[in-house]
Amino acid sequence: MSQEILPRRESAAVTMSGVRVSKRSSRAQRRWRILARALTGSPEPTGSDSEEEVSVRRFTSFGLLKCTLLENTLADGESSWCEYSTELDGRLYDVQIRRVSKCFTASELIGFNNTGNVCVWPSEECLAYYLLRNRGFCRNRSVLELGGGMSCLAGVLAAKYCNPSAVTLTDGNVTSVDNARCIVTRNDMTDLVECGVVQWARAARALRQAAVNGNRVKTRTADGDEDARLPSSLYDVILSADCLFFDDARLDLVETIYGWLADDGIALVMAPRRGTTFQKFAEASIKRGFIARQTERYDDTVWSRHLQLLQNNPEYCPDLHYPVLLELTKQKKTPPG
Ligand SMILES: C[S@@+](CC[C@H](N)C(=O)[O-])C[C@H]1O[C@@H](n2cnc3c(N)ncnc32)[C@H](O)[C@@H]1O
Repeated sequence: MSQEILPRRESAAVTMSGVRVSKRSSRAQRRWRILARALTGSPEPTGSDSEEEVSVRRFTSFGLLKCTLLENTLADGESSWCEYSTELDGRLYDVQIRRVSKCFTASELIGFNNTGNVCVWPSEECLAYYLLRNRGFCRNRSVLELGGGMSCLAGVLAAKYCNPSAVTLTDGNVTSVDNARCIVTRNDMTDLVECGVVQWARAARALRQAAVNGNRVKTRTADGDEDARLPSSLYDVILSADCLFFDDARLDLVETIYGWLADDGIALVMAPRRGTTFQKFAEASIKRGFIARQTERYDDTVWSRHLQLLQNNPEYCPDLHYPVLLELTKQKKTPPG
């Protein structure tokens, strides 16, 4: 069973996995102990304490896409290649995905959030599956994925099967973006897909600054700071999976989506409720000017898997694992008079 280090920022009482943590020490102390163990290479303590302290990922997938390890690809010790596939209405959909499987260095662990390099999270899987089921959604439209993690699976499958006009895959983590670039090259998508580092705080700052300057925007800063630039044109569809639990970054993510989405565009955001984090994001979106529509039952297959899991898997916790769909569209501007 794979282990995951607790994410750097998480909501009040929930870890990403849902395993309760010890009440005997503060969360910060526990994180530092985990980090110290990772940095010094010391073994996990045995016994109940370690189980309490380290978050174990117990639910990993809705099984919507089959993931098969590609044996014949050269393993470099830091990654592995696998094929994600599914059959829908008699047609096979597949894509080769590189997964990061390296030991992170000290600076990487201390640096930018690494949750996107742990696995493909169930929300990304559900969003990818939803797009395959609704292939007209991205047709002839420009698509942006924010916080796509190491796979950007939804954006990659949209590029391959949904006939978008262009796709941009992004994350704030450089390792994730480098990995996405490898995926794009291997799947022969370089003509259609570009990848880049986008940190929401920087993107939001650039947007706010542009608003102050009367929307006169530079497309790239003088020092070539890629992720502070504003896009040359806005996106018709913005995708994001499991990115709503970062309390400090919530308003920046809302601002980035609002600023980068075309007026008649739509953002498809999928995430588990994770306590109040989903709701807080939805409320912040409405406050910013979005019309927000939440849907739990957006696909019959996903819903029936959810019901089966509820009955048969005691480790399945909908609050942490079931992705809810949030559709964001901009309120129509009424002309004066
Ligand atoms: C839980 S992971 C989800 C990754 C992927 N969407 C998936 O579901 O597999 C959250 C992602 O958000 C990214 N992220 C977190 N904070 C961010 C920020 N402030 N700016 C940009 N990306 C951020 C992380 O790097 C990570 O890839």
